[in-house]
Amino acid sequence: MKRAQLVVVFTARSVIVSRDASSPSARPLNLWPALAPAEPGVPVPSWPPRWGGGSSGNGLWSWKNVSKQPLNVNVAAPNAARSASRRAFTALSSPTVPGDAKSAPVDLSSMEFWALPPAAREEGFAELRAMAPVSWHRQPESQLLPESEGTGGYWAVVRYEDVREVSRDPERFCSGRGVMFEDIPAEMLEASQSFLAMDDPRHATLRKLVAEAFKPRAVKRIEDGIRADAHTIVDDLGEQLEGDFVEAVAKRLPMMTIMRLLGVPEEDQEAVLWGVDAAVSWNDPEFLAGRTPLEVVGESMTIMTEIAYRLCAARREQPADDLITDLVQADVDGEQLTDAEISAFLVLLSVAGNDTTRHTTSHAMRALCDFPDQRALLLDDLEGRIETAVEEFVRWASPVMTFRRTATQDTEISGQPIATGEKVVMFYPAANRDESVFERPNEFDIARSPNRHVGFGGGGPHFCMGASLARTQLAAIFTELLGRLPELEVGEPAYVVGNFVNGIARMPFSGEGGIRTLEAG
Ligand code: HEM
Repeated sequence: MKRAQLVVVFTARSVIVSRDASSPSARPLNLWPALAPAEPGVPVPSWPPRWGGGSSGNGLWSWKNVSKQPLNVNVAAPNAARSASRRAFTALSSPTVPGDAKSAPVDLSSMEFWALPPAAREEGFAELRAMAPVSWHRQPESQLLPESEGTGGYWAVVRYEDVREVSRDPERFCSGRGVMFEDIPAEMLEASQSFLAMDDPRHATLRKLVAEAFKPRAVKRIEDGIRADAHTIVDDLGEQLEGDFVEAVAKRLPMMTIMRLLGVPEEDQEAVLWGVDAAVSWNDPEFLAGRTPLEVVGESMTIMTEIAYRLCAARREQPADDLITDLVQADVDGEQLTDAEISAFLVLLSVAGNDTTRHTTSHAMRALCDFPDQRALLLDDLEGRIETAVEEFVRWASPVMTFRRTATQDTEISGQPIATGEKVVMFYPAANRDESVFERPNEFDIARSPNRHVGFGGGGPHFCMGASLARTQLAAIFTELLGRLPELEVGEPAYVVGNFVNGIARMPFSGEGGIRTLEAG
């Protein structure tokens, strides 16, 4: 089979995709505004990444316009974190305030705030919930775009009921004008967001193409497979009773499931996973390791897009029982999807389906160690309590922290006037600790009921498509982990710095007692 040539070039202002014009699906890539003519003979990037960064490397990358200022954050030192916390809470530098809105007491736009550990951030959210539940903030600091290219300030919504109101009213608060908190180059959004950043009817049409595979009935059909994978993960720990929990456990099950659903071959899975990590870690100095955020994000998009294009070509030639085959065969209003559109599906599903469940697994494991009485309660009746426990895992972790909407009309939220075109950002971890809805919100309670958290979103058309799958995965992995490794302990997490995903990059574990065999039934 002929391999499509693909090159994606990210610069501060443009992404250029070229594809072998003889590809069977060659037609205009209408998602990519800056389309370069095909460049025959240009090599396809491979994984692991081999670019040196900056303008070095193979010459495909041009970073001349990329700002290279270092991130001014410190993830390691608790004292530094505490003083950053104080600064983030008090040093709000003259935000652009529309109308008569008061300045917020907490600066959600500073990277310092997002470099804090989750518990310290919650102090800021609590202050906002109490004093300024709908507050105006300056444009978020961004490492991906120069300040002059940002889209300005936004309204921060931190209370539970307000998050639900915004989520459930797409007529007033649309997604089609962007859903990311931070300003991100348009080309990256187009390459990665698919229907997440669309409004109906296009959103509904595209979501429907893949939604069937994520409905509870479909997930039920693959549940045995998910449990078997969870069993394998614990088996694979074998004698390795120390290590990094994220690598050895948390990241594996989501990757196995989503890659199988999409049909990504095993040899490409680690590359996609690296792409997923890079796509959400642009604010994390440790992940960047001296490279610029744009460089890393560009590389991530290139890698995932290249794999997606290759997969599209393969599935056109030889259909299989997977989502990519469904997508290449889909008929959308009498047209086929382009490779670029399918690639954006792959990126969206890979990011949405990997990071979220992975980080929930890590946060939940840590919480089970921090609250030993809750762990004992769960172990006491694992099968009977796992369902409510999983809901608490998601509320506690709130792995997706922010999504934004744009007001389509002059309106108000909790009495605060919002003008047409103004951005509204929802802060899910803040809503999930709202003391007016959750009793003892800062306590981890595996039997919490009711537990109507907004971890999967506040309802409405964009409600998490993978909620059912995530619940099944979390139940499977914790049943295996706690049932077979009852002595498992984890240490201090190293958090990912960023304002999108509440991530744990690494967390040591030890399982002194060894693996037990689960009793049948
Ligand atoms: C614990 C795990 C997960 C959490 C906490 C989570 C959270 C979220 C949130 C907050 C949203 C946005 C909701 C909104 O805007 O109203 C969302 C959307 C989405 N999630 Fe998840 N998610 C998880 C797992 C998954 C998985 C396993 C998949 C599988 C692919 C997935 C696929 C999606 C998709 C495709 C969307 C976009 C839906 C749309 O725009 O219509 N998620 N998720």
